[in-house]
Amino acid sequence: IMALSTKPYKGTRDFYPHDMRIHTWMYDKMKEVVKSHCYEEYNGPMLESFELYAAKTGEEIVNQQLYTLEDKSNRKLAVRPEMTPTMARMVAGQVLELPKPVRWFSFPNLWRYERPQRGRLREHWQLNVDLLGGEPLYADYEILNIAYKLIDNFGGKDKIKIHVNNRKLINHFFTEILGLTAEQALKASKAVDAKAKIPEEVYKTQLQEAGVPEEQFEKLEAFFNSDLETMKSNYPCEGVNELTELFELFKNTDVEEQLVFDAKIMRGLDYYTGTVFEIYDISPENNRAMFGGGRYDNLVGLFGKQQLSGVGFGMGDVTLRQFLETHNLLPDDLHDFVDVFITLPENKFFKASVQITESLQKLGLKVFTPLQKAKFANQLKLANKINAHWAIIFGDTEFNNNQVVVKNLKSGEQKTLDLNNLEKIREV
Ligand code: HAM
Repeated sequence: IMALSTKPYKGTRDFYPHDMRIHTWMYDKMKEVVKSHCYEEYNGPMLESFELYAAKTGEEIVNQQLYTLEDKSNRKLAVRPEMTPTMARMVAGQVLELPKPVRWFSFPNLWRYERPQRGRLREHWQLNVDLLGGEPLYADYEILNIAYKLIDNFGGKDKIKIHVNNRKLINHFFTEILGLTAEQALKASKAVDAKAKIPEEVYKTQLQEAGVPEEQFEKLEAFFNSDLETMKSNYPCEGVNELTELFELFKNTDVEEQLVFDAKIMRGLDYYTGTVFEIYDISPENNRAMFGGGRYDNLVGLFGKQQLSGVGFGMGDVTLRQFLETHNLLPDDLHDFVDVFITLPENKFFKASVQITESLQKLGLKVFTPLQKAKFANQLKLANKINAHWAIIFGDTEFNNNQVVVKNLKSGEQKTLDLNNLEKIREV
């Protein structure tokens, strides 16, 4: 018989404890930031009806990347490729009752059938931070500020740039200036979005198919490379006004230096209607967006009860970890899982070791027991390998005197303690 493979399914990861430690550490750091702004955690099901994504998520994900299945009653389902539709569905379900603004976060695992490559896998975890209601300008400000603070809390604020754009400006250009229909505009924006990743010829063909004739290409290039001042004079519109107000609001803040206007920011998802943004690692090693999001006016309203505009972003664990590794921002020592190692020299001491374990646990310490007798030297080797802080050693002499020897494995210092004085372990 052929042995089963120990490899996980293509594009997915096993989280061995070493990786799980990093994963949990990242999640805890994220939570610190969003909780300080009173965002509340929510979650939803991994499976949703196929229609939920067909409605708004966008062609690329729905046609190429969705994991779909049928249940035993022939309902067409999809494994969630993103959290925003679930979030919108849940907010819509209680839209009248929820206090506004709604501030929610979640850290779901999401599935997309992608070609696995650096920064892109088939399963990833994504911090979702969403803010619904409030004055749109202020809400956009808060969300961008939180995106910045998340990176700052990892020590990376000067290793990123926040690229901001506005869908209304793009739509203005494609429909008012180039005269495209809404559908053509969407196609053209996809082409521009994909430009860096596809051959020049394919890009040009896609633009032509979207209704942009070749003689307009130069104008298009000029537009996408304009700065905000040029936009103001050449393409005045609501999108430019919103961008101007937003950049104005960030003047003289910590965020200002990392904030750049970038007309090329499109976002792959169809539901964005206003501000859109992507956070880039400045290191060329990580050349795709680290995370991104934007404003969506019409998602909650899809469910019929009431319209409620929101803004938010998704920050993936894969790109974040690469960012932290690239810039050396991961702590080297996350091995805090063992405080005390209790040696077991002979089986007759097993019950005594259980009692010592329980006394130490009551003092708030994490205690490791080997469950098998062995020579001291071998046990201490194991204690060092699992990075225990102290070892407790005892034999007949100590046991008969109600004592143990405590050894600090970091400093080598050693002390005899009475069993009713175990709290002194912290001084060794
Ligand atoms: P998205 O741009 O599709 O947006 O994904 C957001 C982030 O999730 C990406 O920038 C990346 O960090 C990570 N990500 C996405 N796909 C993958 C993948 N296959 N492998 C690894 N990481 C990935 C959304 O999903 C929106 N729903 C975000 C949002 C929330 N907008 C408003 N609220």
